[in-house]
Amino acid sequence: MKLMLVKNLDLQADAISLGIEALIPEIAVKQVSGCREAIELLKLDSDYQCIVAEDKFGDGTDVIELFKYVSSTISALPFILISNTTAERIPYFASHPPYSVLIRPIDVASLVSVIQTALKQAPSALDEGYAKVPIKNLMLLGSTLEMDLYVKITENKYVMVEKTDGAVATEDFTKYLKRQVFFLYVKKEDFCSFINRWLTSIRNSTQPIGDELDLSQLTDRISSSLTIVNKALSFHEYTEELAQLTDASVRLAIKTIQSNKKLSEMMKAINFEEIPYIGAHSTALALVACRLAIIMDWATSATFYKLALAAFLHDISLEEDLWAKLESKSDVLESGLDSELQQRILNHPMQSSAFVAKESEIPTEVEIIIRQHHERADGSGFPNSLSTNEITALSALFIFAHDIVGNIMRSGGRFDIKSYFLNPELAKQYDRGSLGLLYRTVKTQVNLGHDI
Ligand SMILES: [Fe+2]
Ligand SMILES: [Fe+2]
Repeated sequence: MKLMLVKNLDLQADAISLGIEALIPEIAVKQVSGCREAIELLKLDSDYQCIVAEDKFGDGTDVIELFKYVSSTISALPFILISNTTAERIPYFASHPPYSVLIRPIDVASLVSVIQTALKQAPSALDEGYAKVPIKNLMLLGSTLEMDLYVKITENKYVMVEKTDGAVATEDFTKYLKRQVFFLYVKKEDFCSFINRWLTSIRNSTQPIGDELDLSQLTDRISSSLTIVNKALSFHEYTEELAQLTDASVRLAIKTIQSNKKLSEMMKAINFEEIPYIGAHSTALALVACRLAIIMDWATSATFYKLALAAFLHDISLEEDLWAKLESKSDVLESGLDSELQQRILNHPMQSSAFVAKESEIPTEVEIIIRQHHERADGSGFPNSLSTNEITALSALFIFAHDIVGNIMRSGGRFDIKSYFLNPELAKQYDRGSLGLLYRTVKTQVNLGHDI
């Protein structure tokens, strides 16, 4: 069963969709940003059993177009509106009422019961039993996770595994993920009140749940979920769960970057000594690349998304940490590894990008960045020895960030950006094309004494 959630407030939509998926069995929520996108999507695929639309302006006027489209083309589709006001107070809806209107703040139990009635399902009892919650959602929730967590032993038997009275450490989740346990259970009662608190906190613009994680907790969670994705991929397909875990890491990275911390602060927060190489490398890379995008004035949420996702997947075809440490063609050719393996390493940007190309939801730019991440401005890179004008601007930024991260990691996290830019070799290497522009802009900022 598919439900379309037309969202206008991202965080609120996350809470609503988590509530619906955990409390209504066999339902998949597709989140869509805004009414226009919803109409476009429905033109391609109208196989939805219910639409829940959050209005943007609180008065329902922005969703009328979507409602008209739905009622004229798929008339039997129940349309549930989430608004600040009742249908009678919205002129159009007063004469053409939708299936139901729910007034904010949303009570998740009422929402679930309206959806179940619309789907002609027997209502679930929400005061007993357990809800199944993906661990990736729990990882995003932060330290206000005041719910005891259970694992399911048999159909009716659950055992409490974590008594949570606040912070749940990253390791607590990683131990389940390592065993390929992607879901935990919580008492439905606790869960409903938790979601309601979450929705209220967002509505009142108090600090939304998940935002109280500090920098090192954030980077810890990103790197440990990436480590898991990487390990799991060596013996698994890129399953839905792994894709979601990657997505959760991307969102945590964007949250970190939007906290507007300086590069040095973010790097200090990464526990380079304890986190496995690829996890730490990819996390640092996402944060450095996004930070450079800010300095370049290229910062948009879409750019952050592409850069972070590329960072998390760029070395996905390398199973060994040692291989990911080889940065240049000569590093690989002088590594002493057998020639077949060397060829494989030299080809890993193609392999990783081919892997990404199979995932239809990943933007093409991510695929290009991954394919080009070992190219060099002077044409000495691999796998395609591209010249500088063949390297896209976003790839150039990524290559620049990848070099900086290489330096940071070789120095065990003690990186001094000022002395990095004093190296005359760097100017020779970079001074052309998009890389030149990046190099000069960042260097100017550093020379002006700005802490980037
Ligand atoms: Fe690589
Ligand atoms: Fe890499």
